[in-house]
Amino acid sequence: MARTGKVTVVGAGFYGSTTAQRLAEYDIFDEVVLTDIVDGKPEGLALDISQSRPIEGFETKVTGQTTGPAGEGYEAIAGSGIVVITAGLPRKPGMSRMDLIGVNAKIVRNVTEQVLKHAPDAVLIVVSNPLDEMTALAAKVSGFPPHRVIGQAGMLDTARFSYFVADRLGVPVGSVQTLTLGSHGDTMVPVPSACSVNGKPLAELMPAADIEQLVERTRGGGAEIVALLKTGSAYYAPSAAAARMARAVAVDSGTIMPVCAWVDGQYGISGVYLGVEAELGAGGVKRVVERDLTESERASLHEAAEAVRAKQADVASL
Ligand code: NAI
Ligand code: 2OP
Repeated sequence: MARTGKVTVVGAGFYGSTTAQRLAEYDIFDEVVLTDIVDGKPEGLALDISQSRPIEGFETKVTGQTTGPAGEGYEAIAGSGIVVITAGLPRKPGMSRMDLIGVNAKIVRNVTEQVLKHAPDAVLIVVSNPLDEMTALAAKVSGFPPHRVIGQAGMLDTARFSYFVADRLGVPVGSVQTLTLGSHGDTMVPVPSACSVNGKPLAELMPAADIEQLVERTRGGGAEIVALLKTGSAYYAPSAAAARMARAVAVDSGTIMPVCAWVDGQYGISGVYLGVEAELGAGGVKRVVERDLTESERASLHEAAEAVRAKQADVASL
């Protein structure tokens, strides 16, 4: 397959550097650019990833670039078709994602302004937390059409749910289908009615109480890892999710994925960034996909929409 295009990952922390590595290893891009404000960190990590090329056998060029407070160095991202924003603080044990809103809003605002200046045609994939609010903020600051701004959360939460089901039943993860919608927070909406193993409804394979237990574990999936790590948060599964989204956009795959997308009438909800299923391809979100939900799942999705709507309105002033 011919290598083409440039993708930038802003933030060379755990999430950003593993995302850059995954994107480079796909070997489908001409160039992966990794940036950070810590002097030398992105250059060092890019060099390290580049030195894995002869071993892993990929040719994508990986470039690191330190950026300054007034946007120095951002010329390196010019021409990027996709920008993944991972810049921002992660949680500490006991913190909620929402506790990060003030500090991360300033970071995401600053980064988005620079992206607008240097890569005005890019599709933005936001991962900084709190995710739904940071996605809405990036959309507002960039002024990009809503389909060009997407948040990563549903892919990760869904993968966690699938893993928990597979682990509990002792079946391959590939046989398990699950889904989470709603927010990447307290109002996450795991969707048991969309869950199956080898096509068989999950409800026929597990008592309702067990499903509920896995649903709760999925809701707390990020916090479980934060508590174990004691410093920092998850990044292997999160980076896999963001990289897959970027890949879907880059190759115009049309894959339907759970992502944070602008909702405009689907499920009777409008005017909010929310976790829904969407078809991703060139240009970002091609369409939001609506599926049948049970009454209680639909009610939970509406509850999630109203919760994030209130916060997304606040975030514009941060
Ligand atoms: P980290 O602390 O390892 O890395 C963050 C990086 O951002 C640091 O290298 C820091 O120097 C950099 N940074 C800070 N301000 C910047 C700026 N203005 N421009 C460029 N870089 C800047 O944290 P990690 O683990 O990489 O997480 C990053 C973010 O992703 C956090 O907000 C975390 O909560 C979030 N996250 C989101 C998930 C999701 O599913 N949406 C899952 C996991 C983490
Ligand atoms: C996660 O879910 C902390 O949002 C991050 O792992």
